[in-house]
Order: sequence, then C-alpha cells, then structure tokens
Amino acid sequence: MDIARTPSSPDGNTVMADAAPTPHEPPVIRREDYKPFEWLVPEVSLDFDLGLGSTRVVATLSVAPNAKADPSTTIRLNGDGLEPLAVQVDGEIVSDWSMDGYDLIIPLTGEGHELRVTTQISPAANSALMGLFASNGMLCTQCEAEGFRRITFFPDRPDVLSTYRVRMSGLKAHFPVLLSNGNLEAQGEGEDGTHWAEWHDPWPKPSYLFALVAGDLVANSDSFTTMSGREVALNIYVRDGDLPRTGHAMESLKKSMRWDEKVFGREYDLDLFNIVAVSDFNMGAMENKGLNVFNTKYVLADPDTATDGDFDGVEGVIAHEYFHNWSGNRVTCRDWFQLSLKEGFTVLRDQLFSQDMGSEPVKRIEDVRVLRGAQFPEDSGPLAHPIRPDSYREISNFYTATIYNKGAEVIRMMRSMCGEERFRAGTDLYFDRHDGEAATCEDFVKAIEDGAELDLEQFRLWYSQAGTPKVSVRLEHDGDTATLHLSQDVPPTPGQPEKQPMPIPLRIALFDRESGKHDGEQLITLTKAQDSFSFEGFATKPVLSINRGFSAPVVIERDIAQDDLVFLAAHDDDPFARYEALQDLVVGHLKDVIDGNLDDSERDTGRQAIAAAISAVLDDEHIDDLMRGEMLLLPSEGYLAETMLVADPGAIHEARQGLRAYLGTQLEEAWKALHQRASSVPFSHDAEARGARKVKTHALAYLAAGDVDGVQELAWEQYSSADNMTDRQGALMVLCNLDGPERTRALLDFYNRYKDNALVIDKWFSLQSMSLHPNAIEHVKALADHPQFTLKNPNRVRSLYMGFAVNPQAFHDASGEGYRMIADLILQLDPINPQTAARFVTPLGRWRRIEPKRSALMKAELEQIAAAGDLSRDTSEQVSRSLG
Ligand code: ARG
Ligand code: ZN
Repeated sequence: MDIARTPSSPDGNTVMADAAPTPHEPPVIRREDYKPFEWLVPEVSLDFDLGLGSTRVVATLSVAPNAKADPSTTIRLNGDGLEPLAVQVDGEIVSDWSMDGYDLIIPLTGEGHELRVTTQISPAANSALMGLFASNGMLCTQCEAEGFRRITFFPDRPDVLSTYRVRMSGLKAHFPVLLSNGNLEAQGEGEDGTHWAEWHDPWPKPSYLFALVAGDLVANSDSFTTMSGREVALNIYVRDGDLPRTGHAMESLKKSMRWDEKVFGREYDLDLFNIVAVSDFNMGAMENKGLNVFNTKYVLADPDTATDGDFDGVEGVIAHEYFHNWSGNRVTCRDWFQLSLKEGFTVLRDQLFSQDMGSEPVKRIEDVRVLRGAQFPEDSGPLAHPIRPDSYREISNFYTATIYNKGAEVIRMMRSMCGEERFRAGTDLYFDRHDGEAATCEDFVKAIEDGAELDLEQFRLWYSQAGTPKVSVRLEHDGDTATLHLSQDVPPTPGQPEKQPMPIPLRIALFDRESGKHDGEQLITLTKAQDSFSFEGFATKPVLSINRGFSAPVVIERDIAQDDLVFLAAHDDDPFARYEALQDLVVGHLKDVIDGNLDDSERDTGRQAIAAAISAVLDDEHIDDLMRGEMLLLPSEGYLAETMLVADPGAIHEARQGLRAYLGTQLEEAWKALHQRASSVPFSHDAEARGARKVKTHALAYLAAGDVDGVQELAWEQYSSADNMTDRQGALMVLCNLDGPERTRALLDFYNRYKDNALVIDKWFSLQSMSLHPNAIEHVKALADHPQFTLKNPNRVRSLYMGFAVNPQAFHDASGEGYRMIADLILQLDPINPQTAARFVTPLGRWRRIEPKRSALMKAELEQIAAAGDLSRDTSEQVSRSLG
C-alpha cells in the first residue's frame, strides 16, 4: 500500500507543543482504573521521511469502535511533545480536533474510520533516547514503555494491537540500511540520492514493540532451521569495524532459538530475525518484533575486549530478548501494571537457559547475588512495590529488580512446587490460551493453576504484597525426633502496613553429622505465620540445611551453631546451601565485629574458623574453580548493610577489609599457589579455563588486601602478560585499589591500548570510580572532565557514576561529598536524560537505613533536588517517594 503525501501546512488549530502544561505533581495512574480502550486499531501505516535533524512522519490508522468498551464520540491519541501538522479523517482535512495536554482528541462518529496525522520530529535533539533518536549518525527507536507517542499520535498502550506497514525513505549515503519489524516487502531508489523500503509485520502488536533503524550498518548473517523445518534468516547489524566481535552473539542467538523449542516448545514465527547494536541506549536491549535493538554492551564481545562476565551477559541478554518473542510479544501485557508478566517470566526463562549453557549452581548463586544486591534493598526501602504494582506516576521507574528479578523468583517457586513437567503443561496452556492477547498476571497464575494442577490461591499474595519475608528457623531435637520450628514475618512497606502470611516453599535436608549424609531432600511449604514440622528417626541431632537452591526469595534467620555452619560449608551437597553456609559464617562474624561484641581473642577465634573454612574450599578437589570462585567471594558491604536495621558504612567497610587483609596474609602461600596454578591454564572458553581466570584474580585481590610483599609486581605481571580481558581487567582492578607506580602505568597503558573502543573505555572509567583508593572521590571528579566523558551516553554515565554510587567507601565518605556529587549529577542529567537520571536517586534513597550523621546528609541532598523544580516526571516521582 502506498501512502500519499499529506498536505504539510498546519491548519491554524495547532497548539504549540512547548506551550502544553507540565503539571508539577504528575498524576497517579492506578491499576484498578483500567478500562479497555474505546477503539480498535487493526491497521497502522507509517511513512517516514528520514533525516537526522528532522523526520516527517505520516501515520494512517484504521479505527473501529471496540465492542468490549464504552462507546465514545472522540478518540484520544497520546502524544509527547508533538504537534499535529495535519489531521485527516476519512481522507478529509479536519480542524475540529483539540489538544488535552500533549494528547490529540479527534471527534469521531461511532463507526470505522481512517485517521491520518502528520508530525515532524527532531531525532538529533532527542537526548532522552526515547522515541526516534540519533546515535552515531544512525537513526533508531526505543518505544517501550511510552516512546511511540514521541513519534506520532497514537493510543500508546499495550492492549491496542495492530498490524504495521512501514515505509521509510532517506538519503542512501546516510542510511544505506533501512529496517523495521516483520518482512521487507519492497524497496527502491528515489530522487536526489534517496532510497526507500517497505516493511510489513503480519503479527498484531502493541506500539511499544514498533521499531525502525536506518543507518550505515553491516551484518553478520546466518540462518536457523526451526523445529518444523522453516528457515529463518538471522542478521546482527553493527558498525563496520565491529563485525569481528559479533560471533558470540550469533552463537547465543542460535542456542536460544533451539533451547526455547526444546524446553518450552516455542518456535520462531517470522522468516527473518534482525538484531541491531547501538551505542546510546538507556537499557540493555529491546525485544521489538523481528527487530531487536541492543545496547552494544550486550552484542559485542571478543576475548581481547570482553571479560568472561561480559560474554555471559551477551548470551543472557540475547536469550532474554529472543524469549520475549513468545513471553511478551505473542502474549503481551494488558497494561503496564502487568509488566512482570513478561519480564519476570522472561528473566526466569533466560536464567534457566544460562543454567543449561554453563554451570547450573554457579548461575544460581550469581542470580541470588543480584537479587540480594539490588532487589532486597529495594524491597526494604522507600521504593518497595509488589511485583504487580498498584500505582505509578512514571512507568519507566518500574523497570526494577522487583519486577524483573523477584518476578522471576516468584514464577520459579511455582515451578519448584509442581516440578518441571507440570510447569511445562502450565506454560503450554498459558501460551495456548492467550496467544495474540494482552494478558494479565492473573491470567498467567490461572493458566499455571489449571495446566499444572497446582492450587495457587494463597500464592497470589506474592503478586500483591511487597517486602521480603523473614523466616526464623529453629531445630529442636528430642528422643529420636527432630522438630523444625518456622515462623514468618513480612515487613511493612510503603502503603502496606499489614501483611498476610505467604506460602514459602523451602527445600530442606537433615544431615547426620557423623556420616556427613542425609536421607533425601524434602520440600516443605510454610503457609502460616508459625508452624512446626517433625521428622523421626534421628538418634542424634541432625544438621539442618534449609532453603536449598534458594527455593524461596526470603531472608532466613537461623539459630544455628557456628560449628554447624562450618560443617555445612564443608559438606552440604547442595552447592547453593554450601555457599550460603560460608556466607552466613562470615556475616555472623562481621556483625559481631561491627557491633563490638568480640574481644581480641574472640575475634581471632572467629577469623580462624573462617580462614579454615576458606582453606578447605581452596583444597577441595570435588568442586571446580568456577564454584570455588563463588565460595571465595565475601558478602558485599551492601549485603552486610542490608542485614542491619541501621548501618554504619564506615564500620562495615573497616570490618570487611580487616577480614580480607587477615585472610590475605594468613593464607598467603595458598593464594600464591592458587595464582600460579591458575596462571598456567591456557586461554580458552571452556569451564576449566574460565574457572582458572576467576580464582586467579580472587587470589590476587586477597594478596593485595593483605598487602603482601611483591603484590604490585605480581599484579603488573598479570596485567602485562594477559592475553584476554578477564585477566587484564582483573589485574587492573587490583592495581586501581593500590597506590603505586604500577597503578598509573597500568591505567595509562590500558587507556592508550583501548582508547578507540567505547565499551572498554567504560571499564576504564568504572574501575577507577569503584576503586578502594583513598582518593577515589578526587579521581571521579577529574574523570568527569575527561575528554571522553559525556552525559549524553548512558553507558559512560553509568560507568563513572554507578560505579561510584556502589563504591561504599567513596559514596559514603563521611564528609557527604559523595552524596553531593550524585545529587549534582541528577540535576545535571535530568534535563538531558530523565530515565537515566532517575536511576541515581535510589542510592540516596537509602538514607533511613544509614547511621544518623550520614543519613541527614543524604536526606538533605534529596531535599535539595526536590527544591530544584522543573524536574522530570521520572526524577520527581523517585525523589518524592524517597523522601515520603
Ligand atoms: N523490555 C526490555 C527488556 O527486555 C526493557 C526495555 C525498557 N525500556 C525502557 N526504556 N524502559 O527488558
Ligand atoms: Zn525483558
């Protein structure tokens, strides 16, 4: 279908976009207010006349009354900063439209119509990176959640599903590649060096899944044959020089496609799957139908420039976005309160995939660490919300660890309760029942309930209640009976002072101390506030292993002897539980140190027990180095702070560093031997070599913490002889914490070596901002003036300032300077990129849980931001919730 040019003269009724009111307190959107849209929009045609400075968009919508909604005599099309240059109804220019804020209201009689609206936008001026924006000379879109309304007027909500036809034209020299969703149907040459392409996506989709890309790109092309024998063309588009770094992404894509067929029975549904990498992107990636757009960070990888962790990140995000094709696109969300319907489920799917591709226990430990590092603090702070929130002011603020990671944990619990097979029956029913629909979390729960034959009545509380449950655990032994006493407490969260008990599935095992064995694992579910479970046949008191595999996303408070933790840390056959025992041992000790509960000799006894446990891990031949590496990591300062009602970051830092230094010197010979052994393993991507690289840098870091003789030289040696980024970055990280000529030398070398590679220069910024160096604050200030620093690129901003905000020593500097720097950043960044700016409010929002002096300084910075006025909806919502 050809789209005729619409007359471009404004018709006199135009309201200047800039004159639209920006209310100070943005309105609250509530889940309970959901109503279906009054109109269906079965077909959309978009015609783009592309230019970096100015792009003209003609949108043609077929609309019809929605029989399932109230009739209406107008249609409301959402806009954001747009001006309607021309409005047509059924081919006639009309002037009876009006503006309500940024929305366009057009009167319509109650039958089918064709609407056509012309808008003009400025991609190059779009620094918020929502809608159509320019990045490195190319044009690309990000529409989720509400970016489409920055391109054209539209019912920009996920329950309006349309088929899209997209025509675009532009200068061939600037935009040799023209992409959109679905299939390429026609292309040709135009006048004056232009060319055009026409794309059609046969699958109805909401506007947030629309995408367009135009630029000078090259592709890594491959193909995949689906389980029913259809051939799918695969392309990963990047800028010219980046092609050699796309191999891992392509392999990951093919593995994801095969895995989803095998494990969830999901086949791809178009003949083409395109991925485009862009360097300016607010998030990780976006699952637009048939045209995924990725942050370069999650596409480009080779051993010289990407760490093993980066390789895993690429594999996981490629899988995540690919899996959205079913969990998100074929079945989408009714409204944004249902975001976890697609995100929680898709995160679970990508976690299970990564578990299958690599080490299952190591992946589980990593995922739990992310949950505890990001989601637990969210759940216990001012921004706490259920995985299905009840209200929001700016939806971008709800792309959170709670929606994503806790959402995944909640679905994982369902899977643990019914088992893999029945879970699959549940997801089959879900996809079957809701294919082509915009569904709700309740639809998902119901489908699992019916398909897996699982009673989820009480379980629904996991969707409505925020807060991390605390489970207190005590094991009693009497005669030959062991009795497990459990109680749960779900803490109050904003807007939810009272909570009901939730069903908490706990995998447990009872170990015989003598034999080191147990009689099998059991799943028990705590459904009441308090309950007891008895187990017979225990002549002696067993050792309890609980929440094995982290079967429930809760905090376990166990009344357990230190000896039992040492036993579990050495003998538990569940790798997660074993890891956990060692973590608990360390947490218990450090809390005692911080609280001043220990005299010198008690402290030494505690340290010795930990050193002995770590030493046993070093010597254990039954675990591989990847797992060993996990066991060697001490709980983070953030995690320690989270276990305390009110934390003193200075005291936590001192205690944890003190223990690291002790372990560094106490086990010096073992660290050196480990470093040497690991250094002799040649580079490869197999588990053994990856494990070796992981423990190698851990060993080096412990030696550095202990400040043992020759550690700078050893680190420099690892740095300069590295044949891969994992080793090189690891050594540079260690050197960055130290103060010496090797530090400067390595930083300079690294910069010169990689100055043309933005992703590696991001590492260079973040290693310095995360450094334990006493002058880290000064370093960050200087780096903000570095010619390669810019507020316009989210990756660069995050590398410098997120690194800094998670560096407890620097961020929590007693002077308050760290807080001031983050507050200044928020105010500077907000007008440029509100979505990214708002993310930096979170660290300051922790003020209630920090000791009084620092707390007051943090709060004062938040108040300063709130007083600034003219804040974005994103930042103002986060600041007011953080102060509220
Ligand atoms: N749906 C994307 C994902 O895969 C996230 C995109 C969110 N983008 C945004 N600007 N809020 O998780
Ligand atoms: Zn996602």
